Amino acid sequence: MALVCVSDYEKKASEILPKTPWDYYRSGAGAELTLKLNESAYKRIRIRPRVLIDVSKRNTKCNLLGIDLNAPILIAPTAMQKMAHFDGEMATAKAAGNFNTIYTMSTLSTCSIEEVENAAPGTNKFYQLYIYKDRELTKNLICRAEKAGFKALVLTVDAPIFGQRRSDVRNKFELPSHLRLANFTDEKLFVQSAGGSGISEYVSAQFDATLNWNDVQWLVNFSKLPVILKGIMTYEDASLALKTGCKGIIVSNHGARQLDTVPATIEVLPEIVKAVGSQIPVMVDGGIRNGTDVFKALALGAKAIFVGRPILYGLAVNGEKGVESILNILRDELDSAMALAGITNISEINKSFIVHESNFCVSKL
Ligand SMILES: Cc1cc2nc3c(=O)[nH]c(=O)nc-3n(C[C@H](O)[C@H](O)[C@H](O)COP(=O)(O)O)c2cc1C
Repeated sequence: MALVCVSDYEKKASEILPKTPWDYYRSGAGAELTLKLNESAYKRIRIRPRVLIDVSKRNTKCNLLGIDLNAPILIAPTAMQKMAHFDGEMATAKAAGNFNTIYTMSTLSTCSIEEVENAAPGTNKFYQLYIYKDRELTKNLICRAEKAGFKALVLTVDAPIFGQRRSDVRNKFELPSHLRLANFTDEKLFVQSAGGSGISEYVSAQFDATLNWNDVQWLVNFSKLPVILKGIMTYEDASLALKTGCKGIIVSNHGARQLDTVPATIEVLPEIVKAVGSQIPVMVDGGIRNGTDVFKALALGAKAIFVGRPILYGLAVNGEKGVESILNILRDELDSAMALAGITNISEINKSFIVHESNFCVSKL
């Protein structure tokens, strides 16, 4: 059967991946309330279509931080992609280049920075950074990303420890023995279970849980690359972020993998857009599975969106081509939503094109 939408790829990936990696990719933290919310919150927003507008020529192209893109649909950093496909991060980065979007590489990758750069030299790439207790090791990662031509650092600020991911604990998650976190050579930086979730144990041992706004300032000053903060969920933190000199914000709850019962990202996007105004781009990820979701996020002020799990599903099903298919599906669905809502250009999408379902309560009619 032809796979025509993201959920088709999700279903197929669930059938072909072994249980432990599937659970690792799919799951969220705690009772997974926010995991469901990230997707369902989009369903509560309706599109208000305008008609009788010439939409024969349309364009999903946009520019982000000086980079021209095919569509405002970017690839979020997701760890350990070789569990999905033997080409792992190299395949994902190549697909991003073919589609002309940005690939964000996770610190916890199973291909090295240099392997990805060699495999996809023409692709625009961001490097997602976790700050390790070992600052020299952290600096080394930053310098390698700069040398390899990455265009920005995406500092993840919502992971002083990892969230309670129950299925990883049940599965005693660890990387299959033939795989390694490829940017590290030291054996203590491998992901092995000591009885619980190996990745959670790794993070507690290695990541710097003292991380605070002074460290962001340190990074902005140390790195030659623009710094984007990923994991902002309140207008208070967005306002603090502005003072650091960072060049972008990603509204993210880490795909609902950190603190369960936080809001869906689309629910908090408006307060953050309001706090930031047009000073720096605000982006969003979490629960985006349809082109109409992309449309709604842009209508609420996001300059671009990132997708996490759908990319892993595409990768698992058909490697580089599967990732490209996911990107094309989302772009085509966005293009279709634009045409049918009476829009020809990304920049025309605004709040007037959406309405929340609560406006249709009987008491308000
Ligand atoms: C399997 C998996 C691994 C992830 N690994 C990382 C990571 O290494 N660094 C990071 O900042 N975010 C990581 N994330 C979070 C994503 O960057 C992104 O915020 C999230 O996946 C977006 O939600 P979505 O999967 O619903 O699109 C991961 C998410 C998943 C599902």
